[in-house]
This record gives sequence, structure tokens and C-alpha cells, in this order.
Amino acid sequence: MSGTPPTVCIVTFGCQMNKLDSQLLRGELARSGFALTDDAARADVVLYNTCSVRRHAEDRVLSHLGSYRRRALREGRFVLGVIGCMAQRLGPKLIERFGFLDLVCGTHAFLRVPEYLRHVMAGQGPIVDVEGDGEVSFARAPGMRVGPHRAYVSVMRGCDNFCSYCIVPYVRGREVSRPPQEVVEEVEALSADGVREVILLGQNVNSYGRGLDGEDAGLAGLLALVNEVEGLRRIRFVTSHPRDMSDAVLGAVAGLVRVCEYLHVPAQSGSDAVLRRMNRGYTAADYRHMVRRARERIPAVELAGDFMVGFPGETDAEFDDTLRLLRDVRFQQSFIFKYSPRPQTRAANWPDDVPDEVKRERNQRLLAAQEEIDAERRAAMVGRRVEVLVDGPSKSDPAKLSGRTRQNDIVVFTGDRSLAGTLGTVRLTDSTVLTLFGELRQATVQHGGTELARLRRGHGGRS
Ligand code: SAH
Ligand code: SF4
Ligand code: F3S
Repeated sequence: MSGTPPTVCIVTFGCQMNKLDSQLLRGELARSGFALTDDAARADVVLYNTCSVRRHAEDRVLSHLGSYRRRALREGRFVLGVIGCMAQRLGPKLIERFGFLDLVCGTHAFLRVPEYLRHVMAGQGPIVDVEGDGEVSFARAPGMRVGPHRAYVSVMRGCDNFCSYCIVPYVRGREVSRPPQEVVEEVEALSADGVREVILLGQNVNSYGRGLDGEDAGLAGLLALVNEVEGLRRIRFVTSHPRDMSDAVLGAVAGLVRVCEYLHVPAQSGSDAVLRRMNRGYTAADYRHMVRRARERIPAVELAGDFMVGFPGETDAEFDDTLRLLRDVRFQQSFIFKYSPRPQTRAANWPDDVPDEVKRERNQRLLAAQEEIDAERRAAMVGRRVEVLVDGPSKSDPAKLSGRTRQNDIVVFTGDRSLAGTLGTVRLTDSTVLTLFGELRQATVQHGGTELARLRRGHGGRS
């Protein structure tokens, strides 16, 4: 492109996958001669990367889009586009509603956005592309930083589970795993560039490898390969499905020194009847059994979960089963959502019969129970020594550092800024509901013998 490059701002809603896709697209745009900006008010092009998982997520985007009406009509050159899950779901309907939209591009075609923008900017009219399931390759993924030393790495796209409430399989398409060699190469490149922790992403990450052949197939095999990458310190993977938590995956977490003892395994409900209606493929007893197996194999493990309240037909007794499960498992963290009917899904055919006040009240009760667990868990950790990966200056107190434990707890502690990106041992001195506080005791030897010796023994480093 000649002249000053047009500036593009991408505004991202939704999950980690969307954040990663936005980053991939930024890379493509930069390669194609666009300039990137975070300033939507001054950008020549504004793209919304959108989420459809709950109605609220969509409503927020719709109101943002509406607010561009005057600007779009006044500034002839201004380009407004929608990409991501909502674009995939609504396609041309978005243009019908917002006549000033220039581009609607779904989850499979988003890497063609630079090409489409050139077309639109040449005055050739709006574009809608929601075709091409399974088309996106992982090949050009540069990996997304979530901090200077941590990065997301996509290992699969799509989902085949069709939980009865969930829009994801419709907007993200069929499950496709990325070949292990490609994942390893990306992690190697990230590590060479200073990344110390990778978070492997998939909607159903512990079923990784389905459809790929070869002896390394499976998440356990992938973890073993990534564990060998030089310079890397930590590996996490999200999100796991309870039904696919195999002994091989648990064994990999237990045995591979860099794989953190942290599992995000949404339970959704503690009631067998609700789980059946949700099409989750397990019972509450299966879930509890999975937790027991994980804790036996991996004594230091912590679990995070998702729960949904107010699913069609959820009775008080069914809700109580969920509350009991949340309390019994004592999750390290719980993400709690009010059920929201999604068009196309099976549950959308059933009456959304739990009144909003009841959903809100159940939501509050789960949150309160989780908060109680948070406070007790963190208070009980005071006095312990934990391994942290130092992120950098703390946002709440820039004179201090912040980092995460292997179990993904946030710790704020005293120490020198130059330690960012290294592992250290922190003695915990205090806690609040959400944060741990401490003093850095020693920085772990980074490239010397200690870490290597632990690696060879295949254990250690556990806090
Ligand atoms: N693939 C992941 C997460 C998908 S979406 C998994 O299966 O665990 C993230 C969370 O949003 C889900 O775990 C679920 O708790 C919630 N969610 C999905 N669909 C929803 C809906 N229709 N209403 C409310 N919450 C929903
Ligand atoms: Fe949705 Fe279920 Fe797939 Fe998760 S596993 S993305 S909840 S269909
Ligand atoms: Fe993620 Fe929302 Fe799409 S949760 S996959 S951005 S529907």
C-alpha cells in the first residue's frame, strides 16, 4: 500500500480464543501494510471481535455498533467491521440491522480480513463471509503474549461436544487439533523470544489429538514434547472436559516438571438430572471420582471450575446439589454464569423457566460459597513457601512485584524488578480473599544445574 498506512483498531470480547485470534489478525494486518492502534476514536478501521456465548455478550456489542451510526455516516472513509462468533452466527443479519457496517467475517475466514479491507476501502461495497468450516490453519500463529513472559498457544479449534446450552460448536465449527510438531515449533520460537510460560488453548483441550495419528497423539504426548522445549519454565492447558480427564493426562501433570498442578475442569452442575439435560456425559459422582483421581495422582493439584445456574427446569433441590459440589470440591476458583438461552441450541427449545431473580440469587449463593473457600484456602497458605513465576511490577502496588504460583494463585511480594520472567521462592506472609502476599526468599537458578537436575529426576519444583 502506498502513502500513510490506514490504522486499524481491534476491540475484543469473549474468551481466550478470541483474544488469540485478534492477535493473529493483528499479525496478518501488520504484514499486509496496515498500522495498528488501540485508539478506536481515531482509527480508520474499527473491528469488533465478538462473543455469542451469552445474550449479554451480544447485547454489549450491538450497543457499541449502534454508537458508530453517526460517525459512519459522517466520515465516508471510516470502516466498521464485525468478526468472531457473533459474525459467524448472524452473518448478513448484522448488515440488515446496521446498514453502515462494511464487513462481517466469521471465525473460519478471519485471516482474509486484510484482503477484504482493501476491497472495502477501494469502495467496492460491503463484504459478508461466514463460510469455510475447518479452513483456518494454525500455521502462521505467532502466539499471544499475556504479559511479557506468558503466552497463549492454540492447540485446537472448535468443539464437537454439543452441550445442549452451548453455541460454541455452531460458531466455531468442528474440533480440529493442530499437529504436535507445529505446536512445539511455536513454543520453541516463543521461548527463544523470552516466554517462560505457555498456556495451551482448546475448548476441550484434554481431547487433543482426536483425528490426528501418530504415536504422540493425545494431550499427554503433546505435554511431554512441550516439556522438552529449552528455556521454558511452565506449561498450563485450558479448558478440560471432565469426561476426557484420562490417566495419561493426569500422569503427565504428575510426572512432567514444567506442567503446572492446575486443572480447569468445568462441572457446570452438581445435579445428575441437570447434567443429563445439559448433555455433559457424566454424573456428579463421575465428577467427584475424577477429582479424587486427580488429587491422588497429583497431591499439589488445584482445580478451577465453571458453573451455570438457572438451567431450564433447575429446581431448588437440583441447585442445592450444585452448591454442595462446589463446597465439597473446594475449587481454587469458580466462574459462575446465569443460564442464557442461545438460538440453535437444543436447550433453546425448552422454556427458560427459572425467573431472573432466582438465577441472580443462586448466582450470589455460589459466589458467596466460593468466596468463603477463597478466604479460607488463602489464609491457610500463609507461612508456606511457594514457587512463583515473576510477572513484573504489581498493578495494585507498583513498588512490589506480582507473580503466580504453579496453582495459578496471584502473589504480591517484595523483590527486585530485574527478576521479571524468573522463578523464585516466596514465603507467604498475609492474604486477602483474592491475593496472597509475601517476601521473595530466593531466586531459583535459571540456567544452572539445579533446574536441570530436577528435570532429570522428573519431579520437584512443586510448591
Ligand atoms: N469449552 C469450555 C468453555 C466454554 S464457554 C468448556 O466446555 O468448559 C465458557 C463457559 O460459559 C462454560 O463453561 C459455561 O459455564 C458458560 N456457558 C456456556 N454457554 C452458556 C449459556 N448458554 N448460558 C450461560 N452460560 C453459558
Ligand atoms: Fe460448549 Fe460444551 Fe463444547 Fe464447552 S464442551 S465449548 S460447554 S459444547
Ligand atoms: Fe469464545 Fe464466546 Fe466464541 S466464549 S468461542 S468468543 S462464543
